[in-house]
Amino acid sequence: MLAGALAAAAAAHAQPTYAELAPILQAQCVMCHSGASAAAGLKLDTLEGLLAGSARGPVVRAGAGEASELVRRLRGTSAPRMPMTGPPFLTDAQIASFVAWIDARMPAGSPSAAVVSTPPRPAPGEPVTYAHVAPIFARRCASCHTEQGRMGPAPEGYRLNSYAATIATVDRARVVPGRPGASELLRRVRGQARPRMPFDGPPYLDDADIALIERWIADGARDAQGRAAPIPVGAAVRLHGTLADAAQLDALPLRGLAGARVDRARVGGYVEVRGRVTSDGEIEVQRLRGR
Ligand code: HEC
Ligand code: HEC
Repeated sequence: MLAGALAAAAAAHAQPTYAELAPILQAQCVMCHSGASAAAGLKLDTLEGLLAGSARGPVVRAGAGEASELVRRLRGTSAPRMPMTGPPFLTDAQIASFVAWIDARMPAGSPSAAVVSTPPRPAPGEPVTYAHVAPIFARRCASCHTEQGRMGPAPEGYRLNSYAATIATVDRARVVPGRPGASELLRRVRGQARPRMPFDGPPYLDDADIALIERWIADGARDAQGRAAPIPVGAAVRLHGTLADAAQLDALPLRGLAGARVDRARVGGYVEVRGRVTSDGEIEVQRLRGR
């Protein structure tokens, strides 16, 4: 309906105003782009914030819609594509409205109600999806875990600025869908694995956010459209935690220890586990080492 209304607006005066675009920003952007921890330092909850740009510079160039970073992100010619939760991304008609607005030098239009940001939460009984957890990663993690962030290249080569990157298994899996205990990401935000994340904490994530991430992984690390991720059979993992018993990392059962290389590991000690994900989502240990 929004898309239709906007397409009609674009056709009618071909010159949308900020007031007409604000509902799109409200629905798709401000959960990450507002407040003190706004993603990339870009606040999209006011016209002033949008015009002020991000920590990297302006995102709109008056008169040059297609060349503006904002439009390049919406089209995906600049990565990661926005909104970070996508797909779904904006419709072609919605993107065209942003282009027309910037080409027309960003007219404000009639003052609109303040855009407000409320963290998206799943309805009771509904699975947690990437749409619910992405704002946490965007606000608290992506400033470092990006191509060139606050600490240079992404730490450990791990990016947290898109769904695909978050669940990628290129070097190793940091998220094992359906297995929170086998997911180094959850271990790091809980502080079971050190250093605890976010690296610039405290403050660390609050209990509600940690519980939400745990449920997201337990529910299958679903994308924003609710599709569960496959178990990355054979993927490497590297986990840190406490050896709670001879075959258990905290509450996670460890398989195949008989064939693993074990160094200086003692029950009750802090250890590193390297292994692989089996077809049932368990962890088969290749190496266990005291740290
Ligand atoms: C789930 C969180 C999230 C949502 C939703 C989101 N963004 Fe972003 N956005 C980010 C993050 C994180 C970055 C920094 C990504 C990077 O470069 O690593 C970013 C970067 C950007 C940038 C680039 C800033 C620069 O100068 O490099 C623009 C422009 C942008 N977003 C616009 C939008 C728009 C417009 C929307 C809504 C249609 C949107 N974003 C929705 C998290 C989000
Ligand atoms: C200030 C920068 C910074 C922020 C913010 C940050 N990290 Fe990190 N992250 C690091 C550094 C540095 C390392 C490597 C630390 C080490 O193991 O020595 C790291 C490592 C990790 C690892 C281990 C990667 C691997 O390959 O095993 C995970 C998982 C992780 N971070 C998740 C997160 C999450 C989730 C957040 C947000 C809640 C976050 N980080 C926020 C800097 C950061």
